[in-house]
Amino acid sequence: MTKPAQAAPDCLQERVILVTGAGSGLGREAALTYARHGATVALLGRNEKKLEAIYDEILASGGAEPAMFPFDLGAADEGGFERLAGTVSYHLKRLDGILHSAAAFYSLTPLYLQTLEQWNTLMKVNLAAPFALTKACLPLLRESPDASVIFTGETHGHKPGAYWGGYAVSKSALEALTTILSEELEQTLNVRVNTLIPGPVNSPLRRKTHPGEMPEQLPQMEDLMPWYVWLMGPDSSDVRGQIIECARQG
Ligand SMILES: NC(=O)c1ccc[n+]([C@@H]2O[C@H](COP(=O)([O-])OP(=O)(O)OC[C@H]3O[C@@H](n4cnc5c(N)ncnc54)[C@H](OP(=O)(O)O)[C@@H]3O)[C@@H](O)[C@H]2O)c1
Repeated sequence: MTKPAQAAPDCLQERVILVTGAGSGLGREAALTYARHGATVALLGRNEKKLEAIYDEILASGGAEPAMFPFDLGAADEGGFERLAGTVSYHLKRLDGILHSAAAFYSLTPLYLQTLEQWNTLMKVNLAAPFALTKACLPLLRESPDASVIFTGETHGHKPGAYWGGYAVSKSALEALTTILSEELEQTLNVRVNTLIPGPVNSPLRRKTHPGEMPEQLPQMEDLMPWYVWLMGPDSSDVRGQIIECARQG
């Protein structure tokens, strides 16, 4: 798999795409990029002010009016995810993709310093919430002619190592979820599920995990957007159950 070529400027026209973690970092960058490619984006995050800022930015640049869903993935129960899917259906009428970009992270520490409470949050936000949100939205996604679900993986979930703890475990399990769900959707050709691993990138999380790095020497978030657009759009409609490492592909 080579780095995708520039997608057609209107390749996401008519599509409705839900982006979690849309208030900052890669989620924000992807939501803006999807809107530029014609999508109507549904912005999900905890911080209403951040969502409003990106809502305004999309409108100011001539994009389709987004929807905003202030929502705490760590606090929701199954009914909450179902109500959220119902609200998306009611207001937007359709759903053609989900980018799961939200993530919880504490710090890099040995396991003996990590707490059960932290692990519960990491597993809930990074793993159980993507499962529950996707499950709740599946009926809507099944109605789309070409729906794409993207989980956001992590280099150190793909190859776990010391000090990455519950964060890496949650991201590692996302890869298992990708395989399981993708196999279960084998007959549902219009819904595909993949994991995208950004790799080193000048994003807010990277600054927490690698505070000593020079951010300007890293790939920038916009450099990764061809991957995000390609995997969400029609050019990847036959790509299913893959774990895609952006950095490895160049
Ligand atoms: N090496 C790699 O492969 C690599 C590198 C960088 C990032 N990543 C992954 O890429 C994704 C984006 O990372 P980023 O650097 O862009 O980080 P970021 O800016 O910190 O984005 C994370 C987002 O998740 C949201 N979030 C956290 N907890 C939430 C909750 N309980 N409910 C709803 N939203 C919640 C945050 O919203 P608030 O504003 O409310 O906190 C924030 O907008 C993550 O999944 C990360 O693991 C991977």
